Amino acid sequence: MNAPLPGHAASSPARTDTPLLSVDNVSLEYHISQRVVRATHRVSFDVDPADRFVLLGPSGCGKSTLLKAVGGFIAPQEGEIRLQGEVVNAPGPDRVVVFQEFDQLPPWKTVKQNVMFALLASRTLKRAEAEERALHYLDKVGLGAFADAYPHTLSGGMKARVAIARALAMQPKILLMDEPFAALDALTRRKMQEELLLLWEEVRFTLLFVTHSIEEALVVGNRILLLSPHPGRVRAEIHSHQFDLHSLGGVAFQQTARRIHRLLFEQGPGPETERELDFADIRIAY
Ligand SMILES: Nc1ncnc2c1ncn2[C@@H]1O[C@H](COP(=O)(O)OP(=O)(O)OP(=O)(O)O)[C@@H](O)[C@H]1O
Ligand SMILES: [Mg+2]
Repeated sequence: MNAPLPGHAASSPARTDTPLLSVDNVSLEYHISQRVVRATHRVSFDVDPADRFVLLGPSGCGKSTLLKAVGGFIAPQEGEIRLQGEVVNAPGPDRVVVFQEFDQLPPWKTVKQNVMFALLASRTLKRAEAEERALHYLDKVGLGAFADAYPHTLSGGMKARVAIARALAMQPKILLMDEPFAALDALTRRKMQEELLLLWEEVRFTLLFVTHSIEEALVVGNRILLLSPHPGRVRAEIHSHQFDLHSLGGVAFQQTARRIHRLLFEQGPGPETERELDFADIRIAY
């Protein structure tokens, strides 16, 4: 499938004619000595303002590579990535990445200094304003009382919150998250998903979120792009705005999860699978 999937107005009340982020026919490759590894093949999707857009696919299908390309860290072999119409060709403060490893926080800086650092280094704000903004976002993630703590004294979940506060404090046009909760235990992971959704209700940031957990994709996303195994191609795009943490374990949720699993892992004739799947709100690309 080459063109972005149209017609997702139901999941995106803030939809405008120009998407915030447009990924158009993007193929990404790594060149290592004599070898070329194709990570994604002609992937297209659009992200609208305030979307919680999830890239879902098996290990090695190029999710992280796509995120790096949106971040401007690697250039497409073919195709184009645009943010508000401008071609992405370098990293910038308008796209901030939260990674899986929470040891991304320099240990010699306090929580507040960690959040302030990017604001000062990018000359986004002066020190007093940076401090005010850092405290504002630390408050939002429930860490106001830990502003002067050092990262090694925090739990994994708290480190995750600092990383999120640090990213949101930059007020990026789009927040990029690469399996941000994968290193956490199951209960903390669920709590963080809940907090992320509450934060989104409040701040309405635009999110591009990578996971290989079907359940997490359904809970976190309002739209999910399914990628085939290596090299990643678009398999389908699904609207999932009807699900949240309260849907877990419910019949509709489980059915959808099973269908996604089949779409991701079953080879075979597309149209038949499509009929069998009976999604009300899905576009399948074969
Ligand atoms: N730095 C690199 N050099 C060479 N090949 C790479 C590099 N990073 C990733 N790849 C290859 O590109 C492909 C896509 O990798 P990527 O890390 O984007 O997958 P992923 O979907 O994020 O997987 P996971 O769910 O395991 O994180 C894989 O085949 C991988 O081996
Ligand atoms: Mg990855």
